[in-house]
Formats: sequence, structure tokens, C-alpha cells
Amino acid sequence: MTSITRRRFMVTASAIGAIGLTAGMALAEAPPLAKKDSYKVGFAQTESNNPWRIAQTQSMHDEAKKLGHQLVYTDAAGSAAKQVADVNSMIAQGVDLIFLAPREEKPLIPAVMAAKKAGIPVILLDRNVDQALAKAGEDYVTFIGSDFIDEGKRVAEWLIKNANGKTKIIELEGTTGSSPANDRKKGFDEAINAAGGFTILASQSGDFARDKGRQVAEALLQAHPDADVIYAHNDEMAMGAIAALEAIGKQPGKDVIVLSIDGGKEAVQAVVDGKINAVVECNPRFGPKAFETMMRYAGGEKIDAWVKNEDKFYDPSNAAAELANAY
Ligand code: AHR
Repeated sequence: MTSITRRRFMVTASAIGAIGLTAGMALAEAPPLAKKDSYKVGFAQTESNNPWRIAQTQSMHDEAKKLGHQLVYTDAAGSAAKQVADVNSMIAQGVDLIFLAPREEKPLIPAVMAAKKAGIPVILLDRNVDQALAKAGEDYVTFIGSDFIDEGKRVAEWLIKNANGKTKIIELEGTTGSSPANDRKKGFDEAINAAGGFTILASQSGDFARDKGRQVAEALLQAHPDADVIYAHNDEMAMGAIAALEAIGKQPGKDVIVLSIDGGKEAVQAVVDGKINAVVECNPRFGPKAFETMMRYAGGEKIDAWVKNEDKFYDPSNAAAELANAY
């Protein structure tokens, strides 16, 4: 390289650096969404292995169809790496906006940032990303979902009132590194520890999955035969725990209190049958709120950092009456 050419290269490089900085500063806000009658939107789902996910996906498809939007749907099959690739593919397809249900809090940050860099707004659905690494209103538009800390706390509050001397707890955690697993643990553990008199004997991930939940419950019940409460972070693991209890001749709901979160039909039926004692709902019907929020954003409205879903509560006092409304 001649000295003139080298000088030009250095000037160009520093100019690109300066442009990069300016562009970064201009992107301090989440990308805007132009007003249109219909949109091509992505929905990057994390997995489809349970009724909750299926109900969420159905709700998104139904609402997109009802409103005349094109939905580009992907299923990451439980892989954060695939979900990042799915978002990149949506960016390449030129979608107008991406609805993302991030499997885990940290690994999906690059996907959020790639969409932002491409000028495509992202709305997070049901799970959040690490708040130290990405912010609503800056890196993505908003988070739509339940208060997972409160869900865990509501389970604990039911237990504190209805324990009847049962105090030794096995906790089945959701997917490690996911916001519902982190927050449902925090809400429950803090309330239980503050109440005093309870012991969490063991707390281990069952990955929000029925079979894994059953296997982990089996192992933990063997290690802690005196356990008399099982708190599962979702219905699938609670159903797995019921199978594990029945396999060792214990009556779920009687010998061992079983508590869950999600509120799908099968779990609400289990409350009616006396096998689950109480369930906090986690509402999966996102479609109407997701698209309404997108349209408000396109209309220039300032969107709150968190658009909260309200969750019901099922126990023997209302489960039979609510069964028909459960998803
Ligand atoms: O993010 C919500 C959780 O994810 C639901 O509780 C669970 O069933 C799902 O897989």
C-alpha cells in the first residue's frame, strides 16, 4: 500500500467509525414502525412441546388472520441458537416487525440487537431478556407478559395458608436461564423464606418439560422421602411429578401437596380431581394484545416498558366452574 493509499484507508476507516457512532446514537430509540393497513410480521416461538405454547401460537395465528396480517412463524424447538437464526432469517425476509418469545434471558440478546440494527422493531412476548443488556423503548419496543415473580408469590401465599403441617418442599424449576424460571423461583422462595417454618429440600430444573419433570421428581423423592410439597414452575412438570408420586404409591394432592403454574385444562381438571391443590394461571392468549400493541406503536403512541397480562387462580373453590374457560 502506498503512503497516499494508506492515508486514504485510514481516513475512510475513521470516517466509518464516526458514522457508526452517529448511527448508534441515532438508534437510541427502538426502530419505528410505518403506518400501514396490513403487515408482514415474524413470530419467533421458542418451542411447541406443551399446551401452553400451542395455545399461544394458536392465539397469534388467529389474530393475524382475523386482522389480515401475514405471519412468518418459526419454532426454535427448544434451541436458543436456532431461535437467533430464526430471527436473522426473518430480518433477511424483510418483515415489518418481530414478535419474539425469547427462550432464555441472555442468549437472545444478539437477535434483539440484530433486528434493531436492521431497523426492525421487536416486541417481546411472554419471556423477557436480561435487563442489564437490553432495554424496552431503546433496544426493543416493549415486553408483553405476566408478572412471573407475582405468580411464584401467589403459589407461596396459598401454601402458607393451606399447608396443614406440610412444610418440606421440592421445587421443580423451569428452563435454566429463562425469565419465568428465574422469577417464579424468586417470588416463591422469598415469600416462603419470609414466612418461616418451611424448608426447600431441593430445587432443580425440569426444563418446563413433562418427562424431565417426572425424572427429576423421581430422583428428588428418592433422595428426600420425607418431602410433602412439590412446587412445579409449570403444569407439564406438575403432571410429571404426579406420575412420579403415583409410581411410588403416594397420593398426589393428599400425601404430597402439588402446586403449579400455567392453568391449562389438564391441570385444572387435576385440581377438580384432587391431584393438584392449586394452580396460578399464566395467560397464553397473546394474540389480541400483541397486535393491538403493534398498531398503537405504529400510530406513534408511547408504549409502556411492560404491558402486563392478568392471571387467574384455580383451587378447589373454583376449578370445576372454571374448567370450560381453561385453555
Ligand atoms: O414462558 C412461559 C412458560 O413457558 C410457561 O409457563 C411454560 O409452560 C412455557 O413453556
